[in-house]
Amino acid sequence: MTPAASPLPVPAHIAIIMDGNGRWAKQRGLPRLEGHRRGVEAVRTVVDAAREIGVRCLTLYAFSVENWRRPGDEVGGLMGLLETFLTRETPKMVRDKVRLRTIGRTDELPCGARAALAAAMAATARFTDYTLVLALNYGARTEAIDAARSFAAAVVAGKASLDDAASWAGFSRHLYTHDLPDPDLVIRTSGEKRISNFLLLQAAYAEFVFTPVLWPDFGKTELIAAVTEFRGRERRFGQITEQLGAAGAEAEAKRPGDVIV
Ligand code: FPP
Repeated sequence: MTPAASPLPVPAHIAIIMDGNGRWAKQRGLPRLEGHRRGVEAVRTVVDAAREIGVRCLTLYAFSVENWRRPGDEVGGLMGLLETFLTRETPKMVRDKVRLRTIGRTDELPCGARAALAAAMAATARFTDYTLVLALNYGARTEAIDAARSFAAAVVAGKASLDDAASWAGFSRHLYTHDLPDPDLVIRTSGEKRISNFLLLQAAYAEFVFTPVLWPDFGKTELIAAVTEFRGRERRFGQITEQLGAAGAEAEAKRPGDVIV
C-alpha cells in the first residue's frame, strides 16, 4: 500500500537535500556533470512520485549560495541543466498541474536560467494542489538577512511595527517561504548528516531522515521508505506524549508559532 492509499498521514511538505551526484559519477569513472545529469532524472522521478503519494509541497535544494565556490565548469553545467530542465518540463508541469516556486536570490542567476524560471512560473502560477519549490542560490542565513532587511524596510515605510518582529507570525511574513507551509520531513541523501544552511528556521519542527542512497539512485521506493520512517515518529511540538491524540492533532494543526517551547 502506498502512503496515499493508507489511512496514516503523508507529510504535506517534504524538503530534500539532494546529495551524492559527484560520488555517484566518481564510482562509475564518469565526469561529475554526468552525476548531475542523472540527478536531474531523479528530480523528474521524485517530483512525480511525491505528487502520486499525496504530498502537497516538495522543496528541492538545487543550488546553494555556497555552490558558487565550485569549479566554474561545474557551476556553468548546473545552470545549463537547470535551464534545460525548466524548458523541457514546463509543458509536463502544466499537464500535471504543478505550480513552480523558487526560494533564494534568483536575481543573481544567469539570465538564461532566470528567463526559463520566469516562463515556467508564469505558466504554472494558477495551480494550487501541488507546489514544486526549487531552492536556487539559497542559503538560510542569507534568507535571514533578506528577511531582516525586508522587515526593516516595512517598518520605515510604516507598513509594519516593531512589535510585529516580536512574533514569529509577524516576522516570518518576510521569509522567502512566507506563503509555504513549514517542511514536515527533511530528507538528505548520500549518508551525510548535515543541514548545510537549508531551511534552518522552517525546519524547526521537521523530522529528519538520512539515507545512504546517492541522489541519482533515489526514486519512488526510497521516497516511500522515508515517508514510512516519518510515520513511525512521534511529533510532539513541545508537548508530552500523553497530551497527543485528539488534543495532539489540534496542537499539530496550530503548530508553535509565537510559543517558545
Ligand atoms: C549535490 O551533489 C548536488 C548539488 C550541489 C546539485 C543538485 C543538482 C541537481 C540534482 C541537478 C540540477 C537540479 C535541477 C532541479 C535541474 P554533490 O555534487 O555535492 O555530490 P558529492 O557530494 O557526491 O560530490
